[in-house]
Amino acid sequence: MLLEGKVALITGAARGIGKASALVLAREGADVGVADVLPEVEETAREVAALGRSSAFALFDVADPAQVAEGVGRIRDELGDIQILVNNAGVVTNIARLTKMTHEAWQREISINLSGAFNLIKEVIGPMIDRKWGRIINISSGAAAGGLHKQIGYAASKAGLLGMTKTVTLEHARDGITCNAILPGLIGTELANMMPEEIRDRAKAMIPARRMGETEEVGHLIAFLASDKAAYINGAEIRLDGGMGLNLGTLGSRKEIKEMDQ
Ligand SMILES: NC(=O)c1ccc[n+]([C@@H]2O[C@H](COP(=O)([O-])OP(=O)(O)OC[C@H]3O[C@@H](n4cnc5c(N)ncnc54)[C@H](O)[C@@H]3O)[C@@H](O)[C@H]2O)c1
Repeated sequence: MLLEGKVALITGAARGIGKASALVLAREGADVGVADVLPEVEETAREVAALGRSSAFALFDVADPAQVAEGVGRIRDELGDIQILVNNAGVVTNIARLTKMTHEAWQREISINLSGAFNLIKEVIGPMIDRKWGRIINISSGAAAGGLHKQIGYAASKAGLLGMTKTVTLEHARDGITCNAILPGLIGTELANMMPEEIRDRAKAMIPARRMGETEEVGHLIAFLASDKAAYINGAEIRLDGGMGLNLGTLGSRKEIKEMDQ
């Protein structure tokens, strides 16, 4: 097991990538605290406990520093200092062109996806510095590298996470802390699997692997980055996308993609 005796905290763990990753970390031996705005996060904590690990949950909005301080404090009281932080909570609040994107939608995406990670890092990094050991993993997106049509707030927030990741590394690598970013492509969460079949097929056609990623595949990368084996990987941007990021030049033409398949 990679993470025996470690304490992890994952935000946005009520479902999707966050929930699957919480269970992967627990299988690798970690005690896991889980947080979300959705009460279903309690079920994730129950499933972690069923794997024989200690678990705790808290309901809080990552965008609100006061709620973060209180919620993290409660998890710390139950599990001990957080040694591994996974900033996974994220939203897309609006699909609209820049000209139609509201200030409210922009602010919400920045405050959850970007400021949320800042709030969590501020809350947990003190004890990591004291222990001279810590792991911070920020879940960014392929959108950070390539932009995303009609999702300017989302793409900008996920790109902002990359600057945050590198700055934490510059300031805290000497404290035994690593901070890395994962850039998932299309991951087959419950929500993604609810897309109409035609849209899903079109999406898969853009991915060299011709399939979506599994939520557990994100969890496995998180577990490795959180382990001692990854101590020298720091400030990295790691794509987890079946090669999708290499294929952007073909996005404009479905005909080309069909031809490539032949
Ligand atoms: N699924 C994909 O294809 C994909 C691709 C690239 C990046 N990502 C990123 O991975 C992360 C997880 O995505 P997912 O697909 O599992 O999404 P999801 O919507 O299934 O899960 C996100 C979780 O975050 C929680 N959350 C939202 N706002 C919150 C807040 N303010 N405070 C606390 N919790 C909050 C939600 O309640 C939800 O449980 C997100 O950051 C997302 O941007 C996902």
